[in-house]
Amino acid sequence: MTPEPTGHLRDRVAIVTGAGSGIGRAAAIALARAGAHVLGVGRRAEALSQTAARHSRIAALPADITADGAPQAVVEAATGRWGRLDVLVNNAGATAVMPLADTSAERVAELLALNVTAPSLLAHVALPHLRAHRGTIINISSTYGHRPLPGAAHYAATKAAVEQLTRSWALELATDGIRVNALAPGPTESEALAASGLTDTVVELIKQDEATRVPLGRRGTPEEVAAWIVHLADAAATWITGQVLTVDGGLELT
Ligand SMILES: NC(=O)c1ccc[n+]([C@@H]2O[C@H](COP(=O)([O-])OP(=O)(O)OC[C@H]3O[C@@H](n4cnc5c(N)ncnc54)[C@H](OP(=O)(O)O)[C@@H]3O)[C@@H](O)[C@H]2O)c1
Repeated sequence: MTPEPTGHLRDRVAIVTGAGSGIGRAAAIALARAGAHVLGVGRRAEALSQTAARHSRIAALPADITADGAPQAVVEAATGRWGRLDVLVNNAGATAVMPLADTSAERVAELLALNVTAPSLLAHVALPHLRAHRGTIINISSTYGHRPLPGAAHYAATKAAVEQLTRSWALELATDGIRVNALAPGPTESEALAASGLTDTVVELIKQDEATRVPLGRRGTPEEVAAWIVHLADAAATWITGQVLTVDGGLELT
């Protein structure tokens, strides 16, 4: 049974991209539990349905956010259904193992389209609605948005771009009362590594290596990251903007 909303987000409206798995699914559920109506977006309809089945306040919109016209369609789906938009969580993203020796224009363009251009266009289309309700944007970066990542430099570069978009938009939109923050998760259980095309064995080795390097001794869970998405979305966080909050079990300090 769906629990009644208890949080400060009652009847706010949120869009979460990448809501069919990992951090995005956990964020959609946590925002809905806090009282928000949530539009979960992603390419796989079945994965989104499973997320929507977890809470009656979550609706699913299957869409590739890099497609022409998709940002407009996503924002219109939320505002058409609920009449407003308060929270945009730019979570969908992908990593790519791509040493310089294997770098190609096509793969660089793909990473930029998903990790940088799509969130930018979603924020652009959402802007009038966020202005109307002093809404907020939460961008998902990574520990590697501000640390080097040999072998995956372009992933790190797209997340560095996300962090600079966050800081710049925060200043640009402050007079509208729109807060813009980013979360930088460390290694978190999700489908991200498998989706990057690595074999199961390599994924398992990377996970074990990451767990030993995190000072708290383990990878994070999507729920641990989602809790901070809810905090940043909460209108009670009225005086925080332009920040990149690292949630990584202390990895950044090593
Ligand atoms: N897990 C980690 O260790 C970690 C660490 C730091 C940062 N992050 C960041 O956290 C965010 C969420 O990743 P995750 O770890 O939860 O991985 P994930 O489980 O792979 O989630 C990524 C989501 O993005 C969606 N997506 C991918 N391409 C899309 C597109 N073109 N249009 C719409 N949706 C698309 C995927 O759904 P479909 O395939 O159905 O489209 C998927 O649900 C990403 O930005 C990632 O870079 C993750």
